[in-house]
Amino acid sequence: MHDNTKEITKLVLSAKAKALKETSHEPEPELTQPIKWPVSCTVGPGLEGAIACETGIGYVNGAKGWLIYRGYNIFDLCAYSTYEEVAYLLLYGSLPTLKRLESFKKKLMQYSHIPNTKRLLMSFPVEQMNPMAALRLGTSLMRQEFTDVEADGYVSETVKMISADEDSIPMETKPMGEKHAIYEFDSKLEREKSIKDSLLHATGYESCHHLIAGVASLAAAIARIRYGHMPLEPNLDLSFAANLLYMINGVVPNPVEERIMDIVLILHADHGMNASTFASMVVASTLSDIYLSVGSGIAALQGPLHGGANEAVINMLKEIGSVKNVKPWLEKALAKKMKIMGFGHRVYKAYDPRARVLAPLAAYLSKNNTEGAKFLKIAKALEKGVAAALSKEKKIFPNVDFYSGIVYSSMGLPPELFTPLFAVSRVAGWTARVEEYLRHNRIFRPRAMYTGTFDKRYRPIEKRKN
Ligand SMILES: CC(C)(COP(=O)(O)OP(=O)(O)OC[C@H]1O[C@@H](n2cnc3c(N)ncnc32)[C@H](O)[C@@H]1OP(=O)(O)O)[C@@H](O)C(=O)NCCC(=O)NCCS
Repeated sequence: MHDNTKEITKLVLSAKAKALKETSHEPEPELTQPIKWPVSCTVGPGLEGAIACETGIGYVNGAKGWLIYRGYNIFDLCAYSTYEEVAYLLLYGSLPTLKRLESFKKKLMQYSHIPNTKRLLMSFPVEQMNPMAALRLGTSLMRQEFTDVEADGYVSETVKMISADEDSIPMETKPMGEKHAIYEFDSKLEREKSIKDSLLHATGYESCHHLIAGVASLAAAIARIRYGHMPLEPNLDLSFAANLLYMINGVVPNPVEERIMDIVLILHADHGMNASTFASMVVASTLSDIYLSVGSGIAALQGPLHGGANEAVINMLKEIGSVKNVKPWLEKALAKKMKIMGFGHRVYKAYDPRARVLAPLAAYLSKNNTEGAKFLKIAKALEKGVAAALSKEKKIFPNVDFYSGIVYSSMGLPPELFTPLFAVSRVAGWTARVEEYLRHNRIFRPRAMYTGTFDKRYRPIEKRKN
């Protein structure tokens, strides 16, 4: 291992030591048990707290600041693993053998080669589009080019296997959950068979691999088109992280940049039933295909309350401008009850473990980067101010987005690319969770409480008053 990358590993392990010291690492028993349907739980608006399924993929302990993928804590994965290995782990449930990892990497490399899709993408005004909208479009173009789903008379293999039609829960009854989904595949075996599908059916693991690799190539192509360059073909000798940076910048990154990018990808790969994961799962649960499902994840991730926050953080740090201005800026923001970007989290009511890793990486990179160093100084002062004002009472701490923007900026990546890079990594989590959910699929169908009126008389249009 390159000497400087050893230093990065040390930083991750010291973040782990700090996390272990400051938090108790005990799972919450009530959230880690097999479910006996119907389940009782307290549900808040926006389905907060609702339990919709079981998963073996990832666990977030928000009270303690703990994140695990398939049983491995995020710090160990960042310290010792690679994005390819983590993507495999998320999809298949266990760490790969050397042979399996090599063939998985080969497959990703093969699927990162999407020249025709990129050519098609270039026929749209990509440079004028929001990069996330362009990314979403790219996934539809991949679907169009590589699958049969748009062919005349096409019936999906998955749809052919449906044994019964969905009869949704009657709206007037209280939702109690059901022991078995009515909408089921004939058997698990049938589903297993369909999972081995080729790309043509746009469902199953081949499509997941295709999207993990293809979205990276699309994001890089979008970046290059925006800056007036031609997209680059992948460099097959590089790792996923190094190839991603290469396809964006046209330069093979040094080992430290590659290692940090790899860690950033690992940190963003999965995070429970967040809005974009839920969006992908909802779409998949209708037996729509995996490309459209990932496209929905991209759409949900675009919003500033979700993935868009990292870009907003950099804009906010630019607006603050100097360490001296932090105090007055924060006072004004708090007085206006503004949400400070990069702070707070729906689940974490403790320090986000991903921010624990990213903060020292931002500090490491900013040693040789003037702009990064300036951002970091302002960020540190802001973190102190926000901690004093909000951490005790409201449990507001930095989240993943607070330092990721500084890490990206210090590597020369522009703010418009931050959220697409988040998406590149999250494809692993989206696809893993969709595949897991489809094994016991039940179409999502929450309810809304009707608080409108009844018995209104229909008035013809000419008799209505303004
Ligand atoms: C992420 C987020 C949407 C979570 O929201 P939430 O769980 O619904 O939290 P709430 O909006 O209910 O906030 C609870 C309280 O904390 C305050 N709060 C939450 N996030 C805050 C922030 N970033 N800055 C200041 N106050 C914040 C709220 O104003 C609210 O205060 P109140 O009880 O006096 O009304 C929210 O923290 C936020 O908008 N953060 C900024 C955007 C961001 O960084 N997003 C990335 C998430 S990874």
